[in-house]
Amino acid sequence: MPVDKTTTPPRPNLIDFHGVSMVHYFTDNWEKIQNFKARPDDILIATYPKAGTTWVSYILDLLYFSQTQPDRQTSTPLNDRVPFLEITIPNQSSGTDLADSLDTCPRLIKTHLPVQLIPKSFWEQKCRVVYVARNAKDNAVSYFHFDRMTCVQPEPGDWNSYLQRFIDGKMVFGSWYDHVTGWWEKKHSHPKIQYMFFEDMVEDTGREINKLCSFLGLTSTTKEKEQIRHQSQFDNMKKDDMANYSTVKAMDFKISPFMRKGKVGDWRNHFTVAQNEQFDEDYKKKMKNTTLQFRTLV
Ligand code: PPS
Repeated sequence: MPVDKTTTPPRPNLIDFHGVSMVHYFTDNWEKIQNFKARPDDILIATYPKAGTTWVSYILDLLYFSQTQPDRQTSTPLNDRVPFLEITIPNQSSGTDLADSLDTCPRLIKTHLPVQLIPKSFWEQKCRVVYVARNAKDNAVSYFHFDRMTCVQPEPGDWNSYLQRFIDGKMVFGSWYDHVTGWWEKKHSHPKIQYMFFEDMVEDTGREINKLCSFLGLTSTTKEKEQIRHQSQFDNMKKDDMANYSTVKAMDFKISPFMRKGKVGDWRNHFTVAQNEQFDEDYKKKMKNTTLQFRTLV
């Protein structure tokens, strides 16, 4: 995919934002983000970057709208159907503007914000939230390749230094450890959170679609769910130009495609034995006070 460098934004630097590492593309519009008016039937799709946001967004969009608005899926890129709340790129509609102009019911809205930065109206309106988490090792690998290919993220540097930054929480949207545990704890005070795992979706997508339907009170037929399961498989989504981000200028697929591998366990192709040992030792310390468990293989 040719990248027009004249229209792609410059790579940003990491900044500290309320104690979370961020870049200005996700904080420039902060007043509007914080004052965003959620509606009770909005569905927030929340994830740490690279945990399966696009996959679950695609599934939810199909569950809600494939029967009633089939043209949407072939005419409108997924990132317009499911706006990214906090993004603001010069000369493009902001995430809040896109969300405000959605005419669907419900509105599906994506965010990568850590739980403490979510606009308060989502809690006041008691919106349902679908949170997807992915094991730290695969999440780090996927994030590394993404940062190589998109200019809205800081330069990733080499894998070794990148992994150290991941461990230190110096990533855009902050520490993976804080993000996944913060949302996990939030389930106690906000019962309308469906906490899902990328690994479970890879293992049995149909089962996870059923869980989503129960959580959302959807009565899709077995045939519809099977169609959505099929359509949302990695190879099919990768071919779908309305879902594979090929319409987005800020990504250079020559470096790495957005739909890269979609696997559990790719970390084994990246971590050295020494990196893995150091990572595991640190992981035990950081995750010792949580009941949250991940699988690094399925
Ligand atoms: S983003 O940029 O944060 O919105 O990225 P996100 O969508 O959360 O994560 C991208 C990774 O999810 C993989 N992916 C899938 N895997 C399996 N099946 C399906 N259908 C699917 N769709 C997206 C995508 O390939 C990225 O993971 P990696 O490991 O890099 O391949």
